[in-house]
Amino acid sequence: MTLVSETTPIRLHDYRPPAWSVETVELDIDLGIDATEVSSRLTLHCDPQQPATLRLDGEGLELLSISLDGRKLDTHEYRYEQSVLEVSGARDGSVLETHVRVRPAANTTLEGLYLSGSREHGFLLTQCEAEGFRRITFFPDRPDVLARYTVTLRADRSRFPVLLAGGNPAGSGELADGRHWARFVDPHPRPCYLFALVAGRLESIQRDYVTADGRKVKLVIWSEANVIDCCHYALDALERSMRWDEHTYGRSFDLDVFHVVATHDFNMGAMENKGLNIFNAKYLLADPDISTDDEYRAVEAVVAHEYFHNWTGNRVTCRDWFQLSLKEGLTVFREQQFSADMNSAALKRIEDVALLRRTQFPEDAGPLAHPVRPAEYREINNFYTATVYEKGSELVRMVAGRLGQEGFRRGMDLYFERHDGQAATIEDFLAALGDANHINLSSYLAWYSQAGTPRLHAKGEYDEVEHTYTLTLSQQTRPTPGHVEKAPLPIPVKLSLFDRHGQMLPLHLDGEAHGTEKVVVLSKPTQRFVFQHVPSAPVPSLLRGFSAPVVLECDYTPDELALLLTHDADGFNRWEAGQQLAMLAFDTLRDGDDSIANKAWRQALAALFEQDAIDDALLADLLTPPGEIEFADRQSEVDPAKIHAQRQAMQHRLAEEIGVDALVARYRALAAHTGAPELDAANQARRRLKRRVLELLALLDAEQAYALAIRQYDSASGMTDRLAALSVLVRHRAPQAATALVHFRKRYADNPLALDKWFTVQAQVPGEPALAIIKHLESDPSFTLKNPNRARSLLGAFASGNPSGFHRMDGAAYQFLAERLAQLDALNPQIAARLATAFNGWQRLEPVRRNAARQALEGLAQREGLSPNLSEIVGNVLQ
Ligand code: ARG
Ligand code: ZN
Repeated sequence: MTLVSETTPIRLHDYRPPAWSVETVELDIDLGIDATEVSSRLTLHCDPQQPATLRLDGEGLELLSISLDGRKLDTHEYRYEQSVLEVSGARDGSVLETHVRVRPAANTTLEGLYLSGSREHGFLLTQCEAEGFRRITFFPDRPDVLARYTVTLRADRSRFPVLLAGGNPAGSGELADGRHWARFVDPHPRPCYLFALVAGRLESIQRDYVTADGRKVKLVIWSEANVIDCCHYALDALERSMRWDEHTYGRSFDLDVFHVVATHDFNMGAMENKGLNIFNAKYLLADPDISTDDEYRAVEAVVAHEYFHNWTGNRVTCRDWFQLSLKEGLTVFREQQFSADMNSAALKRIEDVALLRRTQFPEDAGPLAHPVRPAEYREINNFYTATVYEKGSELVRMVAGRLGQEGFRRGMDLYFERHDGQAATIEDFLAALGDANHINLSSYLAWYSQAGTPRLHAKGEYDEVEHTYTLTLSQQTRPTPGHVEKAPLPIPVKLSLFDRHGQMLPLHLDGEAHGTEKVVVLSKPTQRFVFQHVPSAPVPSLLRGFSAPVVLECDYTPDELALLLTHDADGFNRWEAGQQLAMLAFDTLRDGDDSIANKAWRQALAALFEQDAIDDALLADLLTPPGEIEFADRQSEVDPAKIHAQRQAMQHRLAEEIGVDALVARYRALAAHTGAPELDAANQARRRLKRRVLELLALLDAEQAYALAIRQYDSASGMTDRLAALSVLVRHRAPQAATALVHFRKRYADNPLALDKWFTVQAQVPGEPALAIIKHLESDPSFTLKNPNRARSLLGAFASGNPSGFHRMDGAAYQFLAERLAQLDALNPQIAARLATAFNGWQRLEPVRRNAARQALEGLAQREGLSPNLSEIVGNVLQ
């Protein structure tokens, strides 16, 4: 009954080099909102080993003319069917010319060439990754076909004053009838998924930059006129990223101009098109009045991510889409290093590990589990996942840790040296890193091909007579769909031992001294590590810095975790001990009964709160227990309402332990110091803690908290404080919430990014009331399914970010989402498929919800005409 079998999957094992490749591409594009005409001239190369008919991809193209080697083809000499153009008579060196028409304004998929904004004021742009280029012209649309591009754009000057494509500018001029043209040449061969153009009325800010190797580069950021003032932060971030990559990896930019464009209509976060990055406005625009502190950091991170792709992705690209993590995992890792250097390394690691646990662990534990390098797919756009990105980055981090800073740099240098201008594989990457260091890293390949999160079990035994401490580590990975047998993986475990006073002990292993921190690698199912000269029974601190993406199972007592939480000098490890203690506390909190673990957790935190000795932002994170999704991930018969209630109860007791007076006093002290929306670390930290304190206070003394919140809302000088206050009022359904919401709605009526937050904050009201709120919000005139950010801000925030609201007992929210997914699918299959992943994990719900979810999913699967994107996700989730 599911629709999965409709298409056959594409398999890694079937990879063959292309029979036909393209040496040069000349595109001549005549732009119009309703119709755009694309003339293409390809010089072809045929692999003599694989003589075959010329086949090119082309999706929804209106073919106007076609000629080969200068001769117009008769209809019997080519065939265009089912998205493939077959041409007979082509040979090595042939030149194929095609002329097609596409329809940008009618394109709601936001793939290929489309219109952002209104017909009157909007602009044209493209998104080609993964397979959008075939919606623009005929081409072998696969990343291992690298060609040199010359692009000429023509358009009406008053409607499209700005014409941009990737590469160096190579002339521009006037045409008859008020039209003009501009040409761009990219000297670097590249895959077609990196093609981009932008055309319309845009404003810009710019800056001159000189690279470490002396090239003068113009950096230009483009946006619609009303938000151009919000682009300065991104321009600074771009410059920081460029300097950092020169300094850290010795990589400089390689064109004369680097364009960055913001759009409100974008499926993903941003896109690294060669020389012409295109961003979802959410990750480019930054302004104190519309952006929170977290969003400022996200802008910096995404700007860096896309820029870093110029080397990891563009200069060295992927052989095929199975290798996606070769560029994405590596680039996420580089961005994480950069952000750690620019901000607090500990806070960044906490944020990234929390994200991994919230998004990737559930993916790895359910029906959508897939390896970082999948073995097969149907719709590649469904594989831009937390596994490929975030777990992929963790794999690079493990290897980098194994090689050390200098060794990793040596390995990366060799990787670039060997593969510059090529389409590479994950094997190539590991081989270069290994060869440069005379180490064989091939055992890490298993991490790339095996899905599922390994469980790392640790057990320690102290021998009082011998003064030895034996640590037994073992690993086990549960079956994932289609893969029952799991191989042991190399798991680097960074560890320290603490004595009972919280001092780190010197480590002696195999007769050698190792300082106080050491990485041991578990590569077998079980291994023992015996530490000598251990004066007393220690408390082990394991997996420090989250040295491997695994679930740690260790029989800590609450006291031991409280000791680590209180004494570890490293911020990340301290947070991690607190998270584990909170997990233990949660597991032992049965139906309102208190437990030893709970007491240990809240007492340790209350003591830290009182001492006032740690950084405000870290304290805020310490005071935050794992999220509802993480708690659910550990259970089998999940009841999201109960999880929500238990988590609230834990926090309520924590608030009690700290006490109203201490909370209010701290709140006031913090509020006194946060006037202007300064972005420095200390001010961001104060705002973060202030928010957490207000949230805790709201559980204890609602009236006082609401009064403080409304004052904070009214006097806020930036979005961080304003949204924090609004969120407290709205989530608690405070009497003051309605007025604040009306005010916010009015104040930001013309600001889509701020309005998105207005939708999201209401979509996350916990529990039963949420669905009615969502339905009501859909009738707001600014709500539309056509804009991905808006759809996500309401439906995504509800279905994926509000477990107690979405998982209603009566299943009404499941039916509701299924209905919206079907509507959305008709407009934008990528976004529909993405939102559908909210159903992941339904098999582990308690029976009543489980049945309701199954019914909704089956109903959706049976609908006529679902896109391949959505039917793949629904089919996989159902199995
Ligand atoms: N390569 C982009 C990035 O930097 C993601 C673009 C993916 N787009 C898509 N439609 N699958 O992460
Ligand atoms: Zn990327």
